[in-house]
Amino acid sequence: MIPDKAVKVEAYCSTANLGAGFDAFGLALGKYADRVQVKTARTRIVKIMILGPYGRGLPISPDKNSAGPPARALLDRSRLDNGVEITIEKNIPPGLGLGSSGATAAACTHAMNHLLELHLPPDELVKIASLGEAASSGSAHTDNVSASLLGGFVIAYGDPLRTISTRAPAKLSVVVVSPNIRLPKNKTSLARKLVPKTIGVKEAVLNIGRASAIALGFARGDIELIGSGMEDAIAEPRREKLVPGYKMVKKAALSAHASGAAISGAGPSVVAFVDKTKQDPKKIGRVMVKEFSKNNVESTFFVTSPAGGARIIRGN
Ligand code: HSE
Repeated sequence: MIPDKAVKVEAYCSTANLGAGFDAFGLALGKYADRVQVKTARTRIVKIMILGPYGRGLPISPDKNSAGPPARALLDRSRLDNGVEITIEKNIPPGLGLGSSGATAAACTHAMNHLLELHLPPDELVKIASLGEAASSGSAHTDNVSASLLGGFVIAYGDPLRTISTRAPAKLSVVVVSPNIRLPKNKTSLARKLVPKTIGVKEAVLNIGRASAIALGFARGDIELIGSGMEDAIAEPRREKLVPGYKMVKKAALSAHASGAAISGAGPSVVAFVDKTKQDPKKIGRVMVKEFSKNNVESTFFVTSPAGGARIIRGN
């Protein structure tokens, strides 16, 4: 049993896939961040409370909230008799494709690792955080949680899982356009069902080449190269029907000189990557909103920048 102790962590939202990197690439974004406080309890409970502007309607059951499974897994690792009280300040809007559940899971995992003094390595933390994604969307994908945990541009790959993160170029702006469309609660799980179980060599070759261009683009700080890889032959062709007007919005963004554009995670937001030293990201956002409206879809946009990883903001 460890004495009364509390740790609070902040973790940013993220965009996943970046086109060709389905389930493997993530980028932390600075617009929104969840804050999660974990506090030791003297009995072996996992209790979740949710506050914040987007907390309403989210599940507090530890089986359903993305903080619950990582918290349980880490308590099991600790072999202590403690439980934990988790308070989530939900600042990331859920359902936009910005890794909202992943950020909560990442913040909780980082906080618990510190609270219980487990000192687990990043790859292990990413795997544990992904248990939260399984609870909220039915699949333990690791791209959003690794971006929120590690920050910057992240590649989560291999079996056993490995992760690598690198800083994104300072001149990269990310335009996020969110169509105002009704979505089912289990949006991510439905979007994942549209992705085929097997793909052809042709699609694999296309995505390997493009994903390599994205990775090299981040390594070189070359936003044009990153953008050139933001095309997907696997998930997007099956998912674009979920985002009315997507093809035209993407085309409009590219015509307005965005370097690349893609569906953000499972959607429905669309991200455009822009070199802010060469183009005005707000102008590109306005062009994309206009294109959505031509398809009778209202939308809003914001411009943001890549962010760092999860960090402790209070702890004893
Ligand atoms: N890579 C995941 C997907 C992200 O596209 O389904 C979901 O947030």
